[in-house]
Amino acid sequence: MVDINKLVDTKSSTQSKEVFWDQEVYDREIKNIFGRSWLFLTHECMLEKKGDFITTKMAEDSVIVTRHTDGSLKAFVNSCTHRGNSICTADSGNTKSFVCNYHGWVFSTDGKLVDVPLREKCYHDELDRDSLSLKTIRVESYRGFVFGCFDETAPSLEDFLGDWGWYLDTWMVGAGEGAELVGPPMKSILKCNWKVPTENFVGDGYHVGWTHASALHVLGGELGGLAGNQAEMPFDELGIQVTTRHGHGFGVIDNAAIAIHAKRDEYAKYMEETIPKVAENLGEPRAKLFNGHWNCSTFPNCSFLYGTNIFKVWHPRGPHEIEVWSWVIVHKDMSDEGKREVVKQAARSFGTAGTLESDDGDNMVQSTQVNRGSYTREGAMNSTMGQGYEGEHPDYPGIVGSSFIGETSYRGFYRFYQEMMSADSWDDIRANDEHWADCFPNKNYWKDRIAAKAAEAEGE
Ligand code: FES
Ligand SMILES: [Fe+2]
Repeated sequence: MVDINKLVDTKSSTQSKEVFWDQEVYDREIKNIFGRSWLFLTHECMLEKKGDFITTKMAEDSVIVTRHTDGSLKAFVNSCTHRGNSICTADSGNTKSFVCNYHGWVFSTDGKLVDVPLREKCYHDELDRDSLSLKTIRVESYRGFVFGCFDETAPSLEDFLGDWGWYLDTWMVGAGEGAELVGPPMKSILKCNWKVPTENFVGDGYHVGWTHASALHVLGGELGGLAGNQAEMPFDELGIQVTTRHGHGFGVIDNAAIAIHAKRDEYAKYMEETIPKVAENLGEPRAKLFNGHWNCSTFPNCSFLYGTNIFKVWHPRGPHEIEVWSWVIVHKDMSDEGKREVVKQAARSFGTAGTLESDDGDNMVQSTQVNRGSYTREGAMNSTMGQGYEGEHPDYPGIVGSSFIGETSYRGFYRFYQEMMSADSWDDIRANDEHWADCFPNKNYWKDRIAAKAAEAEGE
């Protein structure tokens, strides 16, 4: 029996290997994490007109998201209230209603049952249609990015994002126009636990130089120096890592936003013109982030690379498999040519046949499947890199780590993971709002470091 309350040790910064393997752990994740968190659904640009819809997943549940006739967003479970058949098998489209293929029940774009065949003749007009709407799901949008939540007691999407929203605004607002996603998403199956890619995106600057050495050699440029972890680099000066209250986090490499793009004339021009506008709109700290390359995860299972601009959801399919969906982020105010260039470059590096992404597949799969061995599975995984070299920062909210190569964001992700896994409800989680960062005890890390730097500069 796995002890759910001991999966993560926030003191020693270790996690039980069972988190990648055990069915009971997975079942609890479905209930406590996917049942309670805001999960990414789509972008509003794919639901512009009344009647537009997309189908997607929330963990293993199939859902339909629509732009209803009154202009509002709606989301509901894609399963008929008659005998449970899935109602819509299209990826996207525009419709007045959804008709179940089995016996023909008809649902409107807000999930209400509006008609059934033979209602008078065979149901004798006694069917209570009002009680047979599709199961509805909370749906909210942040800067056009649409999320759904099964839990009525969960905080608003904005509160769930918390400080992470401040960071997201860097490019979701940017100079003012913001960003959108280009679909349809690429989709593929990978035989790994959903947390392996999530943790990789949230906080793994470490693997880049090793796993992606050959791709970096070929690319050269700003990131070429990372290949093989050979170069003498002042890692503490090249970026930071961040984690936040609800497990969202990222690492940033300064001045490297578009470094993965082999062809980038339009994007480079766009960045040059836009960075000063971002500074004006959002201030210097975020203008600096705007020009950095980010690896990120929005808790629990939505990851993206800002700069490279791939945007992914890792839909779990049991503890040992995921379905990966990938879109491309583009700034709305880019030229059409610039957008096309970004889409090509993002897909080339991090699409299904991505020159970097395909390096990672084996790491994801093997880190999961190795746990088939019961002796292997005993024991813990380590995420202690840079522990203690992190704390509150004067410019950046959340907990900020000293370098983009470190495991601050791993620690923050698994800290919240454990909190959700052991909490009985959102009230339990809210009760911890003031104390969540206690496991990052070096409160004065940045104060001391900045003071030391200033003293050093004065001495020179
Ligand atoms: S199962 Fe949908 S109409 Fe019967
Ligand atoms: Fe990678």
